[in-house]
Amino acid sequence: MGKSIGLALILFLSSPLCFLLSMAQAPIPAHYDGFAYGGASPWERSVLVEAFLDPMCSDSRDSWSPLMQTLEHYSPHMSLIVHPFPLPYHENAFVACRALHIANMLNASTTFPLLEFFFEHQERWSNKATQGTSKASIIDDITNLGSIIIGNSSISAFKSGFADSRTDSAARVSFRYGCSRGVAGAPYFFVNGFVVPGGGSPVNYSQWRKIIDPLLSDASENQGSSILYFE
Ligand SMILES: *[C@@H]1O[C@H](CO)[C@@H](O)[C@H](O)[C@H]1NC(C)=O
Ligand SMILES: *[C@@H]1O[C@H](CO)[C@@H](O)[C@H](O)[C@H]1NC(C)=O
Ligand SMILES: *[C@@H]1O[C@H](CO)[C@@H](O)[C@H](O)[C@H]1NC(C)=O
Repeated sequence: MGKSIGLALILFLSSPLCFLLSMAQAPIPAHYDGFAYGGASPWERSVLVEAFLDPMCSDSRDSWSPLMQTLEHYSPHMSLIVHPFPLPYHENAFVACRALHIANMLNASTTFPLLEFFFEHQERWSNKATQGTSKASIIDDITNLGSIIIGNSSISAFKSGFADSRTDSAARVSFRYGCSRGVAGAPYFFVNGFVVPGGGSPVNYSQWRKIIDPLLSDASENQGSSILYFE
């Protein structure tokens, strides 16, 4: 009996429900999470794609190029917000996500180049390659190499960004926000707030066309009916 209550407690403590309950107490951040691609307001376009990406995840990496191709195709009718989502089993993912927040604070134009840089050099910071390496050395390595993107003059600001608790909370907010939307892997995509089925796997260009084409033709042809719907 006592054993089963203990087991039930353990199950509860490790359950998503417990996680959601603990999230309910998390403070609301001052800004919406994520990085808007291209700088323009993402809310004014017809189609908003939100991508939850782990900079250390190969499926996230593989989804990037078709996503960029899609964005280019639909521009200016599509916008993109990337939410960094560090998977707990990629040991350096949280540091990489934090680096993205630091880059975004130092010079927002370097955020996406840094994300692409992480995608290109993932192997260097894989669990296997960094086994036994201290977190401090990994941060050092990431800031030294990342300065190619951030600019050599910002290297000390980049390094001290890791001592700034705001960048830690920003990366935590990103993770919590993903959890609150049911993200359980990477990449995960949402279109106009609705999840794209098959989360955790890359979406290729022809799949994107199949998802977005009907939305845009609806917007142009059926504007009347959507107004009726809201009456
Ligand atoms: C910000 O980064 C962009 C892209 O690397 C660069 O062109 C620009 O000069 C940088 N701005 C500042 C203020 O450093
Ligand atoms: C930054 O420094 C590295 C190594 O010293 C060098 O290879 C790179 O060209 C420099 N980048 C810039 C933008 O100055
Ligand atoms: C895109 O993905 C779908 C579903 O996995 C697959 O059937 C299709 O062959 C892929 N297309 C290309 C061009 O890779």
